[in-house]
Amino acid sequence: MKSDNLGAIILAAGKGTRMFSKHPKVLHPIAGYPMAAYPLKLTRKLGCTKTVMVVGHEADLVKDVFSDSGVEFVHQHEQLGTGHAVQVAWEGLQKFSGTVLLLCADVPLLQRETLEKMIETHQSANACVSVLTAEVENPYGYGRIVRDNGKIVSIVEEKDASTEQKKITEINTGIFALQAPTVAPLLQQLDNNNAQQEYYITDIISLATREGLSVSSAVLADVAESMGVNDRAQLASACSQMRTRINRAHMLAGVSMEDPASTYIDADVCIEADTYIQAGVHLHGTTHIEADCIIESGTVISDSHIGARCFIRSGSNIEGSTLEQQCNVGPMAHLRPGTHLRGFNKIGNFVETKKADIGLRSQASHLSYIGDAELGEDVNIGCGTITCNYDGVNKHKTTIEDNVFVGSDTQFVAPLTIGRNSLIGAGSTITKDVPPDSLALSRAEQKIVPGWRKKRKK
Ligand code: UD1
Ligand code: CA
Repeated sequence: MKSDNLGAIILAAGKGTRMFSKHPKVLHPIAGYPMAAYPLKLTRKLGCTKTVMVVGHEADLVKDVFSDSGVEFVHQHEQLGTGHAVQVAWEGLQKFSGTVLLLCADVPLLQRETLEKMIETHQSANACVSVLTAEVENPYGYGRIVRDNGKIVSIVEEKDASTEQKKITEINTGIFALQAPTVAPLLQQLDNNNAQQEYYITDIISLATREGLSVSSAVLADVAESMGVNDRAQLASACSQMRTRINRAHMLAGVSMEDPASTYIDADVCIEADTYIQAGVHLHGTTHIEADCIIESGTVISDSHIGARCFIRSGSNIEGSTLEQQCNVGPMAHLRPGTHLRGFNKIGNFVETKKADIGLRSQASHLSYIGDAELGEDVNIGCGTITCNYDGVNKHKTTIEDNVFVGSDTQFVAPLTIGRNSLIGAGSTITKDVPPDSLALSRAEQKIVPGWRKKRKK
């Protein structure tokens, strides 16, 4: 396959009427990425030197999302059909002399190997145009592949097809390989004399045949790959098939899953072998989980690094955090962005952390808020402790040095530094720095009035 001269067009201008959405269809997410990111990823894997994305409906939103991807955008102001879209795209391919792949932004399940095979066939046949077809049980709605003595001669759209043609079960997937120099003049000849009064790219086949140019085709081995997403039911189905694919790859690489059907992992998440993931777990974005972890049900982890042998108990939510080895988190802990557990930590139930750097072996086992804080090693945070980091205007930092023992129900009114080895008595509101090795206590002394209840009743 000659990839040095491979270009691509991604059609992404359509409105996606059947989605009933205020967002462009091609931006609806599948496994954490907008739908159109998948064909785009393929063009990169195949080494395309030039990729043109045709945008139209909500073009600015689409351009925004892919602005750093290296694609070139062309604007199709009016959506006059797929053929018109390719004509518009050609503005960006004027001087291109190689093979141009035509991909649709709403066909996210297509695999690299399929395209490689198709390009191979296309180039070795020296074809003007090649089309990827599929044999389906129910061809309704698709363009039908019309053959004469086995040779493909045209594609007929559902709305233009005769009763006989409607019986054809070989369909157009919408994926083409085009030989740029020979296709260019044919593009000029497309017209809209059809039932939908649209310019069809599919007419390129009959035009090429008429000119005596070579047309080739490749049949898709796995029909599921060609599935187009036109409505929310198809979106859910595409998500589910993508999930099956992603989870299977993780399992084959040594990750155990209690129930892959209910495990939701974004496309670029990395998980190392012998990690065990229970049902109902969501792993998003750039998350990386090292080996031998256990992730219990209902946990959601986004853009975080989880070190080896961590145990994340049920219902925990971890975002933008780094956990080093052997941390024990949850159930129902909330680790917000900027949390860094240095290793062997315990963050127990109903503990919330944010911008918190927590030293080796330090723990907060129950019901605490630790925000804008730096904790040394071997610190024990008692139940119900709060860092009061916000004065209504600014955020302030709490520093707690090594070996500090914090009694339950303590409030640290930041900014504060608690020196190493100190002990904070339970129920204290700490407003001043505490020097090392001290006891700090700030609660009213307990008073006892003997026999008070009995006297009151009288
Ligand atoms: C198209 C094919 C059909 C094929 C099917 C496969 C044509 C005429 N028909 O039909 O043979 O079986 O795909 O899924 O090509 N788009 C634009 N600009 C336009 C029109 C469409 O960018 O003016 C984009 C859409 O955003 C979409 C793609 O082209 O990504 C396909 O368009 P769509 O209207 O969905 O075509 P189908 O009717 O599905
Ligand atoms: Ca479609």
